[in-house]
Amino acid sequence: MSMPAFKPEDTAMTGARPQLISVEAAKQLDAGQVKELFAAHLNPGQLHFLKLLGFDRILVDRAEGMHYITRDGRRILDFFGGFCSVAFGHNHPRIIAARQKFQDENRHEICMAFMSQYAAALAKNLATIAPGNLDMVFLGSTGSEAMEAALKVAEQAQGPAKSKILHAANSFHGKTKGVLSVTDSTLYQSQFKLVENRIKVPFGNIEAVRLALESDPAIGIVVMETIQGGGGIVEAPEGFWRELRALCDKHGVLWIADEVQCGLGRTGQFFAFERDGVVPDVTALAKALGGSKAAMGAMIARREVYMKAYGKPKTALIHAQATFGGMGEACVSAIEALNVLYDEDLMGNARRQGDYLIERLNGLRAKYPTLLKEIRGRGLMIGVEFQDISETMPFGLKHMVALLDDKLKGSLCGFVGALLLKEHDVLVAFTEYNRNVIRLEPPLIVTREQCDEFISALDEVLSRGVTGIVTGYLRKVAAAKG
Ligand SMILES: Cc1ncc(COP(=O)(O)O)c(C=O)c1O
Repeated sequence: MSMPAFKPEDTAMTGARPQLISVEAAKQLDAGQVKELFAAHLNPGQLHFLKLLGFDRILVDRAEGMHYITRDGRRILDFFGGFCSVAFGHNHPRIIAARQKFQDENRHEICMAFMSQYAAALAKNLATIAPGNLDMVFLGSTGSEAMEAALKVAEQAQGPAKSKILHAANSFHGKTKGVLSVTDSTLYQSQFKLVENRIKVPFGNIEAVRLALESDPAIGIVVMETIQGGGGIVEAPEGFWRELRALCDKHGVLWIADEVQCGLGRTGQFFAFERDGVVPDVTALAKALGGSKAAMGAMIARREVYMKAYGKPKTALIHAQATFGGMGEACVSAIEALNVLYDEDLMGNARRQGDYLIERLNGLRAKYPTLLKEIRGRGLMIGVEFQDISETMPFGLKHMVALLDDKLKGSLCGFVGALLLKEHDVLVAFTEYNRNVIRLEPPLIVTREQCDEFISALDEVLSRGVTGIVTGYLRKVAAAKG
């Protein structure tokens, strides 16, 4: 199809109907056309990375279960899982059916004037699942929004004299302006003015937390991911969460557990913090909550905390849900997704397949010790850490790679990921803060056979050794870079 000419004239000035792309025409766009639009109107800089990995030449038409299906008929096995947002697989039939019924019956979507039976039911389901008296729910659309709500409910409950926030090094809690201050990235924080009322400690270091709480009574909030995702699938040491709970209780501090990535059954339990038998004061979910079909985030707070912050008519609207919080079809998707999680024993599957994958990956680590450094994780949240090859890469290759992108220099992950996609139709995820870690977060429906398929593909790529992997990448992926 031919592309419409964009902005041939300023239609706002002439009043003429702007030349718009229809849904059907959008569906027909080819990879080259999408790339052009992406560069012109979305994010030209990001295209550099898509090209580097060879992702810019792939156009997905459909997605079903564990697979993306491309325009040219490739079936790509999804071990990325949208950073945990595709927990139920792509287009789960029960979630689709619930959405379809909602539409067929013309049920109401926006629930700002009237109460929503779907938002109320979803909140009740979350309160039923959450341990302790984590009973009060705020519904939003994203993880960042849920985490903003978490920080605000805690600050409002604590009051200005105890509003200082303690967060962890290498944390990721989102990129919106509030949570940005506790997202530990110089790149993301960039030139923005941050909240000054905060302190950073190393993740998982209870002595550092103890020291901070004992020396600064202004600290009233501790915020941490239960398992750090962007940090490279990093867990706190055994006993950390129980000691943190005790310290928070002793000092009157509220603990926010960010479960946006690790929650919703990913680790084999609904919340990752459940393993340690502790309950935070506030938690947040998003990503998978919308059944991999809808944008849905939730903050869940202990009843006392919520009531102290917003419990009276005078305070109720300080942080009530935004326009799209609790939309009808998104709530229906989430309600059905939670039911599917239990009906299909997806948490059991996460435990079984996760244990199996970790065992097989450790087998590969023993086979390729110069390539693989460490395998870590829980359930289907797994980090594969590669050895840093900045020192060991042959000089000639080092030079060629540096010409492509500085980021690839010491890391095998980009090469391995690109080759897995190009030659084995397998998709894996990279990691924000640790370029040597590949993240494996497949949908919770993954089968034993698909785990085997993934392991064979990785085994084949690793069997080439550093030089084979890098030259394979340069030949196959970088050569086709356009
Ligand atoms: C732990 C954690 N918190 C918060 C967020 C922010 O979620 P969102 O991208 O939906 O705003 C993310 C996203 O990756 C996350 O991993």
